[in-house]
Amino acid sequence: MRTHYCGELRSLHIGETVTINGWVDRRRDHGGVIFLDLRDRSGTVQIVSDPQRTPDSYESANALRNEYVVEITGTVTQRPEESLNTRIPTGEVEIYAQKIQVLSAVRKQLPFQVSTADTENVREDLRLKYRYLDLRRDRMAKNMQLRHQVVKAIRRFLEDQEGFIEVETPILTRSTPEGARDYILPSRVSAGEWFALPQSPQLFKQLLMVSGFDRYYQIARCFRDEDLRADRQPEFTQLDMEMSFMSQDEIFELNERLVAHIFKTVKGIDLPIPLPRLTYADAMERYGSDKPDTRYALELVNVSDMMKDSGFKVFREAVANGGIVKILPIPNGNDVISNVRIKPGGDLFKEASEAGAKGLAYIRVRDDGEIDTIGAIKDNLTEAQKQEILRRTGAKPGHLLLFGAADVNTVNKSLDRLRQAIARELKLIDPEKINLLWVTEFPMFEWNAEEKRLDALHHPFTAPHPDDMDDLKTARAQAYDLVYNGFEMLSGSLRIYQPELQQRVFETIGISPEEAYNKFGFLLEAFEYGVPPHGGLGYGLDRLVMLLAGEESIRDVIAFPKTQQARCLLTDAPSGVDAKQLKELHVASTYKPKV
Ligand code: AMO
Repeated sequence: MRTHYCGELRSLHIGETVTINGWVDRRRDHGGVIFLDLRDRSGTVQIVSDPQRTPDSYESANALRNEYVVEITGTVTQRPEESLNTRIPTGEVEIYAQKIQVLSAVRKQLPFQVSTADTENVREDLRLKYRYLDLRRDRMAKNMQLRHQVVKAIRRFLEDQEGFIEVETPILTRSTPEGARDYILPSRVSAGEWFALPQSPQLFKQLLMVSGFDRYYQIARCFRDEDLRADRQPEFTQLDMEMSFMSQDEIFELNERLVAHIFKTVKGIDLPIPLPRLTYADAMERYGSDKPDTRYALELVNVSDMMKDSGFKVFREAVANGGIVKILPIPNGNDVISNVRIKPGGDLFKEASEAGAKGLAYIRVRDDGEIDTIGAIKDNLTEAQKQEILRRTGAKPGHLLLFGAADVNTVNKSLDRLRQAIARELKLIDPEKINLLWVTEFPMFEWNAEEKRLDALHHPFTAPHPDDMDDLKTARAQAYDLVYNGFEMLSGSLRIYQPELQQRVFETIGISPEEAYNKFGFLLEAFEYGVPPHGGLGYGLDRLVMLLAGEESIRDVIAFPKTQQARCLLTDAPSGVDAKQLKELHVASTYKPKV
């Protein structure tokens, strides 16, 4: 029946009789001549019907409304000179409709305009409730196509060029060690026992290495019950990979070629590789972040060493208590950042205080080169100290220097937030720039202040750095992230494959041998039967596609995403279940409906 897709028709088809299917994107009546844009997934094409040339289709054309599904047979015709449309690929032709058949009408009022010509901002809750309509819209249809292209490029590269095989791992499984809260499912057959949905395929992919698969990948759904943000969903997709007998450098090299292949295939961009690398320690020191956006400079400057005997109590005490004093130098900051904005009540003060900072001391370098400070900092910096600060920060007239003084985390977090906010405000970010870098040598552990113990920063199977074996507590890990424009796009590590070392790591994070056996016994046992050295990583596929699409939320590159409240507005999930179902599952609810 259908002979062509709408978006395919060109001048070479002129004279042909074609049959096309699709949705009425727009209908216009120009003094008795009806123009339609017919849309399918390939694009749109203009249809014409008038009482003289196409009397048989005129009545049907007249009755059509937006979003009707139709089949149209007609003749491809050259458009008159004055109505050529260079903005669409089919803009040279139009189809004189001999026959229009309505396959399905729209019976309800559309909740929003769907037309490709429509750029109106529709409320996100409406878009999510009527996602099938939202996905008809140009932007979302393009995003889904892009996502498909990315996955296709990944599969072609990994399978055809690099010998990876895809293996599916279970969704009904045990808790995995990524550190977020699990989604769990009660078992009907095994009363009182629960499955967990995988936070990643981590343990299974390591088992596949024990099995000798050597190079595994999977486009894998992962589930994490955590607080949601624009770049986080409760279920999301990873490109998950694991490789045997490869060094960290070899893993980097392979993934750089993969990323370059993706950019070339879907964007036509030649990504220069190898990609730059930054150690975690350097990233924190220079940017206060383990996922720095280095499309712009605004580097932090550490002055802790100068401040330990400072007359300024806040600085002195920060250093004495093991904290730091750092400066965020802002070229020409004096022009745009007033004192009001830095003081309590100001927007930049708020930005810093949301990260835990108590205040924001500052220095302004005036146009005549004089240094301007106020408050306690004014009387407590010697002239020599001021000069040294100018030297280290490279400050020039017009510079604003913002100080962070507190524990290491608070200073880094607050100055990182300010750095990002100010870069946005001062338009220092070139949206065309692509900034990819490896962050390496993450620490093995981080301090969990609430539970007063060390936690594995990546996960407990991450191998320590060979130079740091003597004291695991402070060891660096052979763990890495790939950062793309300030987003953590990928995270991975070399794994421990020696049982004794694994034991030491469990001890360091306070997991007893019994607990380890209970949780991961199957993996530890597998390692007793001959395990290759191995390592791997997981890409946040949604984040990668979001950045390639130029979107700001991963919801815009997922066909059916959840809201910030982890709900699906389309199906209205989660939802209640029958008492009978709960009983069969041996589950009682403590939930009391609000009255
Ligand atoms: P990690 O937990 O760092 O590592 O996850 C890997 C990547 O997945 C993405 N990501 C998310 N994307 C959307 N929504 C979320 N809630 C979410 N959480 C994580 C990020 C992240 O970099 N098993 C290890 C990988 C490995 O070591 O092989 C893992 O899952 O882009």
